[in-house]
Amino acid sequence: MGKVLVTGGAGYVGSHVVRHLVDARREVVVLDDLSNGHRAAAGAAPFVEGDFGDASVLDGIMSGGEIDAVVHMAGSCLVGESMTDPARYYANNVGKTLSLLEAMRRHEVRSIVFSSSAAVYGEPQEAPIREEHPCRPTNPYGDTKLAVERVLGWYQRAYGIGYAALRYFNAGGAHESGEIGEDHGDRETHLIPRLIRSALSGGPPTPILGEDYPTSDGTCVRDYVHVSDLADAHALALAALERGTLEAGCFNLGGGEGFSVREVVTEVGRVAGSPPPTERAPRRPGDPAILVASAERAIRRLAWVPKRSSLDAIVRTAFTWHAAHPDGYGDR
Ligand code: UFG
Repeated sequence: MGKVLVTGGAGYVGSHVVRHLVDARREVVVLDDLSNGHRAAAGAAPFVEGDFGDASVLDGIMSGGEIDAVVHMAGSCLVGESMTDPARYYANNVGKTLSLLEAMRRHEVRSIVFSSSAAVYGEPQEAPIREEHPCRPTNPYGDTKLAVERVLGWYQRAYGIGYAALRYFNAGGAHESGEIGEDHGDRETHLIPRLIRSALSGGPPTPILGEDYPTSDGTCVRDYVHVSDLADAHALALAALERGTLEAGCFNLGGGEGFSVREVVTEVGRVAGSPPPTERAPRRPGDPAILVASAERAIRRLAWVPKRSSLDAIVRTAFTWHAAHPDGYGDR
């Protein structure tokens, strides 16, 4: 087996995927422009600081013929930002991915695992959501992920590039070593790290974004999946693509169980030893009430076992990381 190019390998999910591949004795090359990622998060893996849409950077990495496959996780990933700056999302997530795919064609790299998102579905019509659910994204972020999935479908048919598009639900937690975790700095928008930071520092309070949803306690329900389980799924998809045993397509990755925002608040309070400060706040535009995955396809076809995705394990490992790294990687 040759090397794996991991774009975005210094990011939150990316760093966990790199760690799992390295632990499984795969040779990797990380490509990251460090706009969101952290150099330290990529560990000792060979690292190229650069733009995944830059043909000369890609040719430099792929020209030796050693790259067998790509795990493509780089890109812009904030739903709210995509609403106000869609141009950035289409340029980064779609335009640059076309450059990456062109480089793969030039250098005959035949497999790609792509980070997609539950945001491709839009407002869900059912819970749990299966992959057959209609895809009608309600924000540019989700639309760019769906656009790339469609491109991958046609490239697979025309050029024989095998792919797996992994539709993440709510990633959380941190590596069991405590060495890598989630650090989005002041741009953090996600519920679990916000609550943990509020609990650790005693404030500012985390806003509860809407308590009038049609759910049991009025707050939104989400499907949280441990980042190390996501990493396992990438490694399994990659291996199956390289073996030629995986039919190309998309796969939901979620823990399969929904938890309300209030339930997550309670869990963070239990793990932290005292309740995190929270405050009532209006709904955030674009938040669906309930988003829960059916991960049956990934479990069946990838032999994926999401073994760390209990809410307890997710919150506990995230808490351990944040408690030990109050300034994250300390590079901002
Ligand atoms: N929430 C709060 N307070 C906060 C932050 C979040 O109450 O400070 C709530 C949100 O309203 C939502 C839930 O907590 O109901 C989870 O919110 P996150 O921001 O943690 O995650 P999202 O569900 O919004 O986003 C995730 C992924 C996106 C993906 C999206 C699909 O992070 O990449 O699911 O809808 F696009």
